[in-house]
Amino acid sequence: MYEWKEKGKLAMMKDNIQKILFTEEHIQDRVKAMGQQITEDYADVKDGIFCVGILKGASVFFTDLVRSIDHFVQFDFMIASSYGNATESSGTVKILEDLDYDIAGRHVLVVEDIIDSGITMNYLLKYLAGKGAADVRLCSFLSKPSRRKVEVQIDYCGFEVPDEFLVGYGLDYAEYYRNLPYIGVLKQEIYG
Ligand code: IMP
Ligand code: MG
Repeated sequence: MYEWKEKGKLAMMKDNIQKILFTEEHIQDRVKAMGQQITEDYADVKDGIFCVGILKGASVFFTDLVRSIDHFVQFDFMIASSYGNATESSGTVKILEDLDYDIAGRHVLVVEDIIDSGITMNYLLKYLAGKGAADVRLCSFLSKPSRRKVEVQIDYCGFEVPDEFLVGYGLDYAEYYRNLPYIGVLKQEIYG
Protein backbone atom coordinates (compact mmCIF):
# COMPACT_ATOMS: atom_id res chain seq x y z
CA MET A 1 0.00 0.00 0.00
CA TYR A 2 1.20 3.47 -0.85
CA GLU A 3 1.77 5.60 2.24
CA TRP A 4 1.61 9.37 1.82
CA LYS A 5 3.19 10.01 5.19
CA GLU A 6 6.18 8.05 6.41
CA LYS A 7 7.75 8.55 9.82
CA GLY A 8 5.97 11.86 10.27
CA LYS A 9 7.18 13.47 7.04
CA LEU A 10 5.73 13.56 3.54
CA ALA A 11 6.98 10.70 1.39
CA MET A 12 9.15 11.87 -1.51
CA MET A 13 8.66 10.73 -5.09
CA LYS A 14 12.18 9.44 -5.34
CA ASP A 15 11.59 7.07 -2.39
CA ASN A 16 9.29 5.11 -4.71
CA ILE A 17 11.93 4.69 -7.42
CA GLN A 18 13.90 1.45 -7.40
CA LYS A 19 16.60 2.70 -9.76
CA ILE A 20 17.27 5.43 -12.30
CA LEU A 21 17.60 4.16 -15.87
CA PHE A 22 18.37 7.45 -17.63
CA THR A 23 19.48 10.59 -15.81
CA GLU A 24 18.25 14.05 -16.74
CA GLU A 25 21.60 14.86 -18.37
CA HIS A 26 21.62 11.63 -20.39
CA ILE A 27 18.08 12.33 -21.59
CA GLN A 28 18.83 15.92 -22.56
CA ASP A 29 21.88 14.85 -24.60
CA ARG A 30 19.89 12.17 -26.42
CA VAL A 31 16.93 14.45 -27.16
CA LYS A 32 19.25 17.13 -28.59
CA ALA A 33 20.83 14.53 -30.89
CA MET A 34 17.37 13.36 -32.01
CA GLY A 35 16.36 16.95 -32.75
CA GLN A 36 19.50 17.48 -34.82
CA GLN A 37 18.85 14.31 -36.82
CA ILE A 38 15.24 15.38 -37.49
CA THR A 39 16.41 18.88 -38.47
CA GLU A 40 18.72 17.36 -41.11
CA ASP A 41 16.19 14.83 -42.39
CA TYR A 42 13.43 17.41 -42.89
CA ALA A 43 15.64 20.24 -44.16
CA ASP A 44 14.13 20.10 -47.66
CA VAL A 45 10.51 20.14 -46.48
CA LYS A 46 9.50 23.72 -47.24
CA ASP A 47 6.37 23.95 -45.08
CA GLY A 48 8.13 22.34 -42.13
CA ILE A 49 7.18 19.54 -39.78
CA PHE A 50 3.68 18.90 -38.48
CA CYS A 51 4.42 17.48 -35.02
CA VAL A 52 1.63 15.47 -33.38
CA GLY A 53 2.17 14.81 -29.67
CA ILE A 54 0.25 11.97 -28.06
CA LEU A 55 -1.07 13.21 -24.73
CA LYS A 56 -0.42 12.98 -21.96
CA GLY A 57 2.68 10.77 -21.84
CA ALA A 58 4.60 12.46 -24.66
CA SER A 59 4.07 16.00 -23.34
CA VAL A 60 7.44 16.38 -21.60
CA PHE A 61 9.46 14.76 -24.40
CA PHE A 62 7.51 16.77 -27.00
CA THR A 63 8.40 20.15 -25.52
CA ASP A 64 12.09 19.27 -25.27
CA LEU A 65 12.21 17.69 -28.74
CA VAL A 66 10.59 20.57 -30.63
CA ARG A 67 13.03 23.01 -29.01
CA SER A 68 15.88 20.88 -30.37
CA ILE A 69 14.53 21.09 -33.94
CA ASP A 70 15.92 23.99 -35.97
CA HIS A 71 13.20 24.13 -38.62
CA PHE A 72 9.57 25.29 -39.00
CA VAL A 73 7.35 23.22 -36.70
CA GLN A 74 3.61 23.25 -36.11
CA PHE A 75 2.04 21.62 -33.06
CA ASP A 76 -1.01 19.46 -32.72
CA PHE A 77 -2.02 16.88 -30.13
CA MET A 78 -4.11 13.77 -29.90
CA ILE A 79 -5.38 11.80 -26.94
CA ALA A 80 -5.71 8.07 -27.33
CA SER A 81 -6.89 5.66 -24.67
CA SER A 82 -4.03 3.67 -23.15
CA TYR A 83 -3.37 2.05 -19.79
CA GLY A 84 -5.66 4.12 -17.58
CA ASN A 85 -4.69 3.41 -14.00
CA ALA A 86 -3.62 -0.19 -14.59
CA THR A 87 -0.23 -1.35 -15.81
CA GLU A 88 -1.54 -3.62 -18.58
CA SER A 89 -2.88 -2.47 -21.94
CA SER A 90 -6.55 -3.22 -22.58
CA GLY A 91 -5.90 -4.01 -26.23
CA THR A 92 -8.55 -1.61 -27.49
CA VAL A 93 -7.75 1.87 -28.77
CA LYS A 94 -10.03 4.88 -28.73
CA ILE A 95 -9.29 8.39 -30.02
CA LEU A 96 -10.53 10.72 -27.30
CA GLU A 97 -9.21 13.92 -28.91
CA ASP A 98 -8.47 14.22 -32.61
CA LEU A 99 -6.32 16.64 -34.61
CA ASP A 100 -7.43 20.25 -34.99
CA TYR A 101 -5.90 20.66 -38.46
CA ASP A 102 -6.00 19.01 -41.87
CA ILE A 103 -2.77 17.07 -42.47
CA ALA A 104 -3.33 16.38 -46.19
CA GLY A 105 -0.02 16.82 -48.01
CA ARG A 106 1.89 17.48 -44.80
CA HIS A 107 4.99 15.84 -43.33
CA VAL A 108 3.69 14.50 -40.04
CA LEU A 109 5.94 13.48 -37.17
CA VAL A 110 4.09 11.59 -34.44
CA VAL A 111 5.75 12.05 -31.05
CA GLU A 112 5.11 9.36 -28.43
CA ASP A 113 6.56 8.52 -25.00
CA ILE A 114 6.91 4.75 -25.27
CA ILE A 115 5.98 1.90 -27.60
CA ASP A 116 5.09 -1.12 -25.51
CA SER A 117 2.72 -3.68 -27.08
CA GLY A 118 2.54 -1.35 -30.08
CA ILE A 119 -1.26 -1.61 -30.17
CA THR A 120 -1.91 2.11 -29.62
CA MET A 121 0.59 3.30 -32.22
CA ASN A 122 -0.22 0.64 -34.80
CA TYR A 123 -3.79 1.91 -34.71
CA LEU A 124 -2.89 5.62 -34.70
CA LEU A 125 -0.43 5.36 -37.60
CA LYS A 126 -2.98 3.58 -39.77
CA TYR A 127 -5.59 6.18 -38.82
CA LEU A 128 -3.26 9.08 -39.71
CA ALA A 129 -2.10 7.42 -42.94
CA GLY A 130 -5.74 7.51 -44.05
CA LYS A 131 -5.79 11.33 -43.88
CA GLY A 132 -3.66 11.92 -46.97
CA ALA A 133 -0.44 13.13 -45.35
CA ALA A 134 2.61 13.26 -47.64
CA ASP A 135 4.52 11.29 -45.03
CA VAL A 136 3.89 10.01 -41.49
CA ARG A 137 6.88 9.11 -39.32
CA LEU A 138 7.14 8.06 -35.70
CA CYS A 139 9.46 9.46 -33.06
CA SER A 140 9.22 7.59 -29.75
CA PHE A 141 11.34 8.42 -26.74
CA LEU A 142 11.35 4.81 -25.51
CA SER A 143 10.67 1.35 -26.93
CA LYS A 144 10.15 -1.96 -25.12
CA PRO A 145 10.77 -4.41 -28.00
CA SER A 146 10.32 -7.52 -25.84
CA ARG A 147 6.67 -6.56 -25.21
CA ARG A 148 5.63 -6.04 -28.82
CA LYS A 149 2.35 -7.67 -29.92
CA VAL A 150 1.98 -5.86 -33.24
CA GLU A 151 4.71 -4.48 -35.45
CA VAL A 152 5.43 -0.74 -35.38
CA GLN A 153 8.18 0.98 -37.32
CA ILE A 154 9.93 3.58 -35.16
CA ASP A 155 11.79 6.08 -37.34
CA TYR A 156 13.41 7.91 -34.42
CA CYS A 157 13.87 6.05 -31.13
CA GLY A 158 15.48 7.57 -28.03
CA PHE A 159 16.29 4.39 -26.11
CA GLU A 160 15.33 0.72 -26.06
CA VAL A 161 14.36 -0.40 -22.55
CA PRO A 162 13.84 -3.72 -20.75
CA ASP A 163 10.44 -5.00 -19.63
CA GLU A 164 10.09 -2.96 -16.44
CA PHE A 165 7.45 -0.46 -15.37
CA LEU A 166 8.97 2.97 -15.92
CA VAL A 167 7.98 6.41 -14.72
CA GLY A 168 9.19 9.97 -15.20
CA TYR A 169 9.81 12.31 -18.13
CA GLY A 170 6.09 12.15 -18.95
CA LEU A 171 5.49 8.50 -18.05
CA ASP A 172 3.06 7.99 -15.20
CA TYR A 173 1.66 5.61 -12.70
CA ALA A 174 -1.92 6.66 -11.81
CA GLU A 175 -1.06 10.13 -13.25
CA TYR A 176 1.83 10.61 -10.78
CA TYR A 177 5.58 10.82 -11.49
CA ARG A 178 5.23 12.50 -14.91
CA ASN A 179 7.21 15.48 -13.60
CA LEU A 180 10.34 13.51 -12.65
CA PRO A 181 13.13 14.82 -14.91
CA TYR A 182 14.64 11.32 -15.26
CA ILE A 183 13.37 7.84 -16.20
CA GLY A 184 13.14 5.48 -13.26
CA VAL A 185 11.90 1.98 -12.48
CA LEU A 186 8.95 2.15 -10.09
CA LYS A 187 9.24 -0.06 -7.00
CA GLN A 188 7.02 -3.09 -7.45
CA GLU A 189 5.34 -2.61 -4.05
CA ILE A 190 3.91 0.69 -5.33
CA TYR A 191 1.94 -0.85 -8.21
CA GLY A 192 1.93 -4.56 -7.25
P1 IMP B 1 1.01 0.15 -26.13
O1 IMP B 1 -0.25 0.32 -26.91
O2 IMP B 1 1.00 -1.13 -25.33
O3 IMP B 1 2.25 0.28 -26.97
O4 IMP B 1 0.98 1.26 -25.02
C1 IMP B 1 1.65 2.43 -25.12
C2 IMP B 1 1.26 3.33 -23.96
O5 IMP B 1 1.25 2.61 -22.72
C3 IMP B 1 2.27 4.44 -23.77
O6 IMP B 1 1.93 5.57 -24.52
C4 IMP B 1 2.20 4.69 -22.28
O7 IMP B 1 1.21 5.65 -22.01
C5 IMP B 1 1.81 3.37 -21.67
N1 IMP B 1 2.98 2.63 -21.12
C6 IMP B 1 3.62 1.58 -21.64
N2 IMP B 1 4.64 1.17 -20.88
C7 IMP B 1 4.67 2.02 -19.83
C8 IMP B 1 5.54 2.14 -18.67
O8 IMP B 1 6.52 1.39 -18.45
N3 IMP B 1 5.25 3.15 -17.81
C9 IMP B 1 4.20 4.01 -18.00
N4 IMP B 1 3.39 3.94 -19.06
C10 IMP B 1 3.61 2.95 -19.97
MG1 MG C 1 0.75 7.25 -23.87
